[in-house]
Amino acid sequence: MTDLALRGPVYTLTSDPFLNPEADCAVYEPDGLILLRDGLISAVGAYANLRGTLTETVELRHYPDSILMPGFIDAHIHYPQSEIIGSFGTQLLEWLQKYTFPAEARFVDAEHARRIADFFIAELQRNGSTAASVFCTSAPVSVDAIFEAAGPSNMLLLAGLMMMDSHAPANLVNGAQASYDVSKMLIERWHNRGRRLYTVSPRFALTSSPQQLELAGALLREQGDVRLQSHISENRAEIARAAELYPTAAHYTDIYERYGLLDERAIYGHGIHLSEEELCRFHETGANIAHCPTSNFFIGSGLFDIARTKDSARPVTVGLGTDVGGGTSFSMLQTMSESYKMAQLRGISLTATQSYYLATLGSAEALGLADRIGSLQAGYAGDIVVLDPRATPLLKLRADSAESLDELLFALMICADDRAIEATYVAGELVYARDTAN
Ligand code: GUN
Ligand code: ZN
Repeated sequence: MTDLALRGPVYTLTSDPFLNPEADCAVYEPDGLILLRDGLISAVGAYANLRGTLTETVELRHYPDSILMPGFIDAHIHYPQSEIIGSFGTQLLEWLQKYTFPAEARFVDAEHARRIADFFIAELQRNGSTAASVFCTSAPVSVDAIFEAAGPSNMLLLAGLMMMDSHAPANLVNGAQASYDVSKMLIERWHNRGRRLYTVSPRFALTSSPQQLELAGALLREQGDVRLQSHISENRAEIARAAELYPTAAHYTDIYERYGLLDERAIYGHGIHLSEEELCRFHETGANIAHCPTSNFFIGSGLFDIARTKDSARPVTVGLGTDVGGGTSFSMLQTMSESYKMAQLRGISLTATQSYYLATLGSAEALGLADRIGSLQAGYAGDIVVLDPRATPLLKLRADSAESLDELLFALMICADDRAIEATYVAGELVYARDTAN
């Protein structure tokens, strides 16, 4: 097998810039080399230091005018909502009823599920995302379809059956015990097959009975290394309804904690309106948050306070998610841009280092995967995005006047989108090349 080597400017995060001095958190090598073998990075460093390892069995690809960085990791996205992206005029609870539930009901049809799943995986990779935590629907074929679609490119994908047994249309509820049984069967079928990982997925407290949350907790206890994803504290009406349905809980977070759903394996979308006490529970249990700014703006949910959430006195681990189809773009660059603007409205200016961290290593940490993805280091996956900072006339004009790497990276994340994704590598193989894609 021919090994691959990628040469060019290499940028990677190595630790959390919200908690450590920025200068210690990122590494930039203006003329770098990444050696790939068996899907992993076997070495990374300066070209001058590693060029001696380039034998004739190594295929060298040179990207002198690009930036090589870890593939983006979308920490929260719904593949069955791909078709309803950009649906007009509602906020969360009405949006679910009017657009989301009808769209999800179509995924009992395996053919439809396969078509959207194939589109979805290609669209992630076209946007430079090399791993994602994905919600399916309550139909088991929706889970099979997305895991099958991830197979050919050997993409790291977390997904699981949507568990919902109450306060939702009859064609979407799956019953507490049935959702447990089917989840268990799907874990046996898919978990740890290749790079696929199962994530237990109760939608949120509003559509799960106490019994279903109890059984979701049982799955976590019984299955060891599976993960959990859900939603929390996104919208004021949602929070009020959660309090009505679970009147003895101290707060929204307590609902999940009571059922054993709050630990380091758990990632919750949004968490915009969490109280100080709730953030403390997240910190103490190691539970994680997926920040989804394009969705929060679009559905009108509120302004996530990243500085408060990551307060170094009790930091919570945060990753970045698109939350398509509440979110409005598959592009993690666009998502970084919106998270910058949201933080601005909270009086905080996120730096480029913080933003690229959230989209790569931060998401990896929030998904409990920072030992294998989210950074370019020997032994990590060969999941790499090649960014073209001069992808459009405007980007070229801007890039040519940038006086530092930080300035260039910042302007790129504010102004760029899928056009700046020149190539995407997954597990050491090229899966998308902009200039040869049709
Ligand atoms: N809360 C519960 N379900 C959903 C969903 O599908 N999207 C969003 N944005 N929030 C949710
Ligand atoms: Zn969501």
